[in-house]
Amino acid sequence: MSATPNSLFRHYLDSLIQQGTTRASLTDEARNVLRTWYVAARQGGRPAASASASPKPSPLQMSAPAPAPAPAEMPEPPELLPQSGEPASSITLPEGTMEDKLQYLRHLAQNWKPARELNSLRDTMVFATGNPHTKLMLIGEAPGYYEEVQQEPFVGRAGEKLNQILRAMGLSRDMVYISNIVKFRPALPNQRTNNRAPTPEEIEACLPIIMHEIRVIQPKMIIALGGTAAVGLLGEQGSVSSMRGRFHDLNGIPVRVTYHPSYLLRSDSPREKRKVWEDMLAVMERLDMPISEKQRGYFLPRE
Ligand code: URA
Repeated sequence: MSATPNSLFRHYLDSLIQQGTTRASLTDEARNVLRTWYVAARQGGRPAASASASPKPSPLQMSAPAPAPAPAEMPEPPELLPQSGEPASSITLPEGTMEDKLQYLRHLAQNWKPARELNSLRDTMVFATGNPHTKLMLIGEAPGYYEEVQQEPFVGRAGEKLNQILRAMGLSRDMVYISNIVKFRPALPNQRTNNRAPTPEEIEACLPIIMHEIRVIQPKMIIALGGTAAVGLLGEQGSVSSMRGRFHDLNGIPVRVTYHPSYLLRSDSPREKRKVWEDMLAVMERLDMPISEKQRGYFLPRE
């Protein structure tokens, strides 16, 4: 099938989006051409009598890119400004294996313009680690110093704590998929080993990448490690203590919110450990993982 001008235009828009472009301006002439295409599509593919006969233009909407549909099925004209509530709609994943798709996302993340343009994140991209063919995905906030050096999430002290939690669950890092909501270490003036949490703007800029990782992995369960990841993923405001203790829903995937492992480094009391552990027990139950009596009793107060 030969390419039509509107399918070429759609592909051109898709390529802009994939390079991270989030805005584009249109000349009046281009707007008129788009109106003509729109009216033609509404009329079953016949060209419109004139552009002026077209309905009032709605802002062009970037819906989930798909192969250009036949004119008769063409949806409402796309908006050039992606809707902030639908950040995940602006990336087209390639055909292929899960690994191919993740490789594509890794490359995209490296050059992800919305994040780079903020000028508040450092340059080294830290993607994800672990096993993509897993039921369980864990998502933290952003890489810190050690993660940036090793280009792997959760390899510093918080990572050691996370490894302990996984071990207590009978798991290891290579049995789960571990990622961050922000792929670059947030920058600070005169930064050495000190880190900061990502801002809401940094999270929003990076959100399409993690949402697509989730789409590729299709985990049966997500653990949001800490409030930053939880708020960013779920779009709800709240503290970890108000969000933990139940399952949330992210596009049909249950999400358990728990304290960030670094919180346990700061408040390592059995009571706080037990809270995290209760979240992990709930996750294990929901995933039908075996749980021993010993595991059930971890961090309970001694009689
Ligand atoms: N904290 C996070 O949230 N992610 C990391 O990768 C490391 C520390």
